[in-house]
Amino acid sequence: MIIDIDETKLIRRAYAAREKAYAPYSGFFVGAALLSRTGKIYAGCNIENAAFSPTNCAERSAFFRAVSAGERRFAAIAVVGGPRGTKAGEFSYCFPCGVCRQVMREFCSDDFLILAAINPQECRKFSLRELLPEAFGPDDLPLR
Ligand code: THU
Repeated sequence: MIIDIDETKLIRRAYAAREKAYAPYSGFFVGAALLSRTGKIYAGCNIENAAFSPTNCAERSAFFRAVSAGERRFAAIAVVGGPRGTKAGEFSYCFPCGVCRQVMREFCSDDFLILAAINPQECRKFSLRELLPEAFGPDDLPLR
């Protein structure tokens, strides 16, 4: 199925999700908006933890929310991030961490689109293949 991707809308949803970020330790607030192949958008923010390692990135929050809602196939994700209080026009590109790329690999094909945005009209675009080449994924395990 070919799905229409409204990039500006997806990025705006990522900015809205960022408002909910819980990041008292790093002060770095991230939002993500994940578009499923059913056409729904699932938003996520980073959620930090006093023990540090349980921290969840915005991208994984969005994925876990979507999969919990029954989604398994995805078209694109928009990601925005920056220090607390970053104003419009001051954002730098925030790229998904390695762990989040691996989570994407579990559910997404090589052409899954990743939009790293600095405002609703400006983003850098990558395929998952570009951000995680030669990946280990579900097809590499014989028992499924
Ligand atoms: N973080 C994300 O949520 N997504 C990214 O793409 C990069 C990093 C979060 C994790 C942590 O809460 C904070 O940003 C600083 O690393």
